Formats: sequence, C-alpha cells, structure tokens
Amino acid sequence: MSELNNIVNKILENGKGILAADESTGTMTKRLGGVGVPSTPENRLLFRETLFCSSEMKNCIGGVILYDETIKQTSSKKNKIPDLIESMGSCAGIKVDTGAKVLAGSPNEKITEGLDGLRERLKEYYELGARFAKWRAVYKISEKNNLPSKESIKANSHALGRYSALVQEANMVPIVEPELLMDGKHNINICNDVTSMILEETFYQLANNNVDVEGIVLKPNMILPGKNSGEKISSEEIAELTIDCLKNNVPSSVPGIAFLSGGQTEIEATANLNQINIKNDTNFIMTYSYGRALQQSALK
Ligand code: 13P
Repeated sequence: MSELNNIVNKILENGKGILAADESTGTMTKRLGGVGVPSTPENRLLFRETLFCSSEMKNCIGGVILYDETIKQTSSKKNKIPDLIESMGSCAGIKVDTGAKVLAGSPNEKITEGLDGLRERLKEYYELGARFAKWRAVYKISEKNNLPSKESIKANSHALGRYSALVQEANMVPIVEPELLMDGKHNINICNDVTSMILEETFYQLANNNVDVEGIVLKPNMILPGKNSGEKISSEEIAELTIDCLKNNVPSSVPGIAFLSGGQTEIEATANLNQINIKNDTNFIMTYSYGRALQQSALK
C-alpha cells in the first residue's frame, strides 16, 4: 500500500471523518459576528482550539482541515496546532486554494485560484506538519442561464487535476472537492445530472494529470433537491441517488468519499449520511468532511 493510501486510511479509520475548520478570515468573521464575538486572531484560535480539544475529537475526527492562519498559530498551552491535532489522534490538513473568483467570460460563475507558487507553499505546509490538502471548486445551477457551463467545469476540473498532482508530488493527500451548491429551485434529478457531469470531468482531468486516485479523498456534495425547489425527498432516496451517482462516475479504486454538508442542517446532513452508510454496497468508505454541520451548535 502506498504512503498516500496509508494517510487516507489513517484519516478515515474506524468510522472517523474530517472536521473542516478552514474558513477564510472573512467567513470566520461572519460566523463569529453571528454570535456577537469580535473576530480577532485570538478569538478565531480560541474557538478552533475548543473544537480540537473536545471530548469526541479522539473518537470521531481523523483529520482537520486548517486555514493558513491557524496552522501557524500556537495553542494556549504553547503547542503547535498540528501537534495538538496529532495528540488528539488526528491528522492536520490545509486548505491551499486561494478562493473562488469570477470566471472571466462567464460572470455568473467562479473559478478557483491558487496554483501559482503552490509547489513552494506545499513544501512549507508539509514542514509545518500538514499531511493532506484541500481545494474546493464551486458550481451553481441556473436552468435559465444553462449553468454550470462546460467551460467552467473544464477549467475548474483542470485546476483540481493540477492541484492534486502537485499535492501528491509533495507526499500529501489531496482532498478533491467539486461542490455543486444546493441554491436554486431545480429538482433532485437536475442535481444528479449536473453532479454526474462534474464528477466525470473531474476524474478525466485527474487521470490526465497522472494523479494516483488510490491516494485521494473525494469530497462531493450529496444528491439533493434545490433549496428553494419545495421538493421533499426522504433520506433513503437521497442516499440511493447519491450512491448510484458515485458508483457511475467515481473510479472504484478511490478509497474514501467524505461529503461536505453544504448548508444542510446538522440533523439533515447526519440522517442522510447515516442512510448512505446503511445502503452503501460499494468499497468506498463514506464519511463526512463537514464544516457547518459539525460547528453550528458548538458556535452557538
Ligand atoms: P460545509 O460542510 O459547511 O459545506 O463546509 C465544508 C467545506 O470544507 C467547504 O469547502
């Protein structure tokens, strides 16, 4: 088994999942502002340290995705944050994209940036203790404007391919996150069709970039109806569609799939993942890489 595959297994062993604590300072400022807390470097660290030291960390979290600020901070007990995470039986990861910017030529879509200088930054993050990385591509459905466009899917998938190759070159595991947002009035079948298109192009580009898919974790959205569609779909049906979509579009050698929560409530994200695991008839380990669905109650 390769070194990268060992890291994947360590992160996902015994039913553990990933805590996404890699909000940019802008997003974290909004989250803390929502509970009336000023967003200072100290408060951002205090909240995150509280999560990392919680009693269920050791049982439930195999990996933590950090933001650049946090990986360089020191805990209140003077530990380096990656060391603190390791002492809780978990592995430190790092968000390495520099955000989604407007895609020139298609102003209603986004392209994720951050490839320039990435090789050098990865070296630094490895030395700081990171053993996996994350890059998020983001897509939105607009039936009126026929989005996402083929061009945005190609451009973002290509970036995910190049990112993944660079991360593996640095002996780290890439988390490959192509997120189709829940926003919109579309029905669940459209989410299924568009997610399939996105996953197909993502794995085409990973192959073109010679990425070893046994050494990645896929972080996809679940197959869900648009937030404003009015459709009520059971967790059982969501699970069946999600598993079928992954079976049809993800190489069976991918070891692990860790879903994002994407604006689902904690209960919805948990119930849907539970059904996915009850019905899982694949070899994929299916788990969570939640941000909001692991942090909301703690934040409040
Ligand atoms: P959510 O679970 O809040 O969607 O966040 C996961 C994540 O890391 C998005 O990039």
